[in-house]
Amino acid sequence: MSPDKTLVFHLSTQGNSGLCYEVTMDGETIIQPSRLGMVLKEGDEISDNLEIIGVSAYSKNETWETVWGEERYITDHHNGKVITLQEKDGLRRKFGFEVRVFDDGFGFRYLFPEQSRMEDLTINAELTEFNFRQDHDIWWMNRNIPYYEAYGQKNTISQIDTAYTPVTLCGRDGRFYSIHEAALTDWAKMNLVSTGVHGLKAELTPLSDGTKVHTSAPCSSPWRTVIASRDLPGLAASRIMLNLNEPCKIEDTSWIKPGKYIGIWWILHKFQNTWYEGPKHGATTERTREYIDFAAENGIQAVLVEGWNKGWKGDWMKNTKGFSFTEAYPDYDFDGIMEYAQSKGVQIIIHNETGADTEHYLKHIDEAYKLYQSHGMHYVKTGNVNLLMDGKEEHDSQYAVQKFRTIVEKAATYQICIDEHEPVIPTGLNRTWPNLMTHEAIRGQEHDAWDEDGGNKPEHQTVVPFLRGLAGPTDYTFGTFDFSNPANPDCRVRTTLAKQLAQYVVIYSPLQMASDDPSAYRNNKAFGFIRDVPTDWDCSKVLDAVIGDYVMTARKDRNSEDWYLGAITDENSRILETDLDFLEEGKTYLAQIYEDGENASYEKAPESWAYSEKKVKRGDRMVLRLATSGGCAIRFIAL
Ligand code: NOJ
Repeated sequence: MSPDKTLVFHLSTQGNSGLCYEVTMDGETIIQPSRLGMVLKEGDEISDNLEIIGVSAYSKNETWETVWGEERYITDHHNGKVITLQEKDGLRRKFGFEVRVFDDGFGFRYLFPEQSRMEDLTINAELTEFNFRQDHDIWWMNRNIPYYEAYGQKNTISQIDTAYTPVTLCGRDGRFYSIHEAALTDWAKMNLVSTGVHGLKAELTPLSDGTKVHTSAPCSSPWRTVIASRDLPGLAASRIMLNLNEPCKIEDTSWIKPGKYIGIWWILHKFQNTWYEGPKHGATTERTREYIDFAAENGIQAVLVEGWNKGWKGDWMKNTKGFSFTEAYPDYDFDGIMEYAQSKGVQIIIHNETGADTEHYLKHIDEAYKLYQSHGMHYVKTGNVNLLMDGKEEHDSQYAVQKFRTIVEKAATYQICIDEHEPVIPTGLNRTWPNLMTHEAIRGQEHDAWDEDGGNKPEHQTVVPFLRGLAGPTDYTFGTFDFSNPANPDCRVRTTLAKQLAQYVVIYSPLQMASDDPSAYRNNKAFGFIRDVPTDWDCSKVLDAVIGDYVMTARKDRNSEDWYLGAITDENSRILETDLDFLEEGKTYLAQIYEDGENASYEKAPESWAYSEKKVKRGDRMVLRLATSGGCAIRFIAL
């Protein structure tokens, strides 16, 4: 039972096929009897024929401090049970099941206690189901699209194909649910398929031989998590996933710093410049120094440099062993740039595209990270473009999960923070390894440079906070001020400039990119918001939202008394209103308002924006006017 007694998790060995669970909320069934269990080698099922031989209960109510995050302090308040099960006859093997029930949801996992005959354990399938009472609406990302770069789409449970988690259900019972997992460290990722009725069934990502997981007891599966909320903002407020991960394993975290970065990146995606050397080479010494200067002048912590290293010429996705992680192109003075950046107090985010060749990468990683560390650099962006890791395994197979974890742990030993692209979707590991700062796993802004569909559709960013965003930090890379795209005029960023600003508050990442070229920012006062907005928060609140329509979020800066508000809308213009109840009582704030200009629209006048200021206090009401695919970004300075 949850600490507030509203959620109850019932476990039984007597279901139609054996082990099952059922969940009630406020006395009403929300999840009907749903199967639990695993299939081991050759159809050997752990599900029926089980008896409970032991139960131990525990409770926790603790508050812990995050190294960085959406919240400074997180409360972990739950009741938990470990249930020991044994086969009634046959091999009489023992299994365990652990569940933790929080006020806003629950998590459970399978345990394999140490015993003979389980030294080598192969798992062929997981039987977990989530049988809801009705055919709820579900927002989901189709697993057919690689790297989690799918739009969120809305169907009912019975209509979906294979979905990545998280999935988000808007219940016919008026509740909202999110299903995902926590602490995926050495397992296959869980995906979900429809059972055909109103249920979802786990489907683990297979290895190339068709098996799912190879392990040995004692071990446990990742946590399967369900957030259950009476409103949509409650999904974003839940910290179950982080609470179900292990505490921080890095003793000295002083080198792990959230921040903002610009980069030699957008000009590459817009095909103005190239990753490889030649007349249009992007990462030249001169350009990088210019970016460093801009960062230093504007309080931007870091500069991402892509295409600095040898290996980009020709078909690099095939010739992945051609990538060097230490040798620069002749027109990029590696040592000189490192020195220059250091002298300006700017970090370089060193790009390591691997083409998903982790064998090659891991062979050179020590040498590379040692070099970066010797220059005082703390950030690496990794890339894994290629459908299969090492030409054989999927990005969220157990094989890949292990590789990603190895890289993050290794990075920690060299005091390096990681921004992972083409990763496995996050599951809260950043609590344990806070140097794992952010991930792509999103249909991000790069699609606005070259995607055949013309760029991300306006509703996309209003879905992200309640679908992909629930999995953790998202490296979406907004910041467009120049909406032209000469090489690809039919494709572009389909928002207004004010919506670009508002996304820094609405979509969370401890590392946020200002992705446009510095030339687009110089002389545009709207850059003031990007310069000021923090990426590390004391607390965060979704004030109002309808998934797929609009979102309004407020966050308090971790290092000052200031608050920030971001509001965004889909292709429809709209008026949003909010009470400023989040501000501190008795204080006056100067609101610096960046909003859509009077004639702004994402189609015809995306660059039109307006600035105003006014004094406000708690209890005041604000009316925000958002253009089509528009936004509003406000800084509240405590006076
Ligand atoms: C795809 C990544 O998402 C993008 O950020 C990067 O620029 C390219 N791969 C090249 O590595």
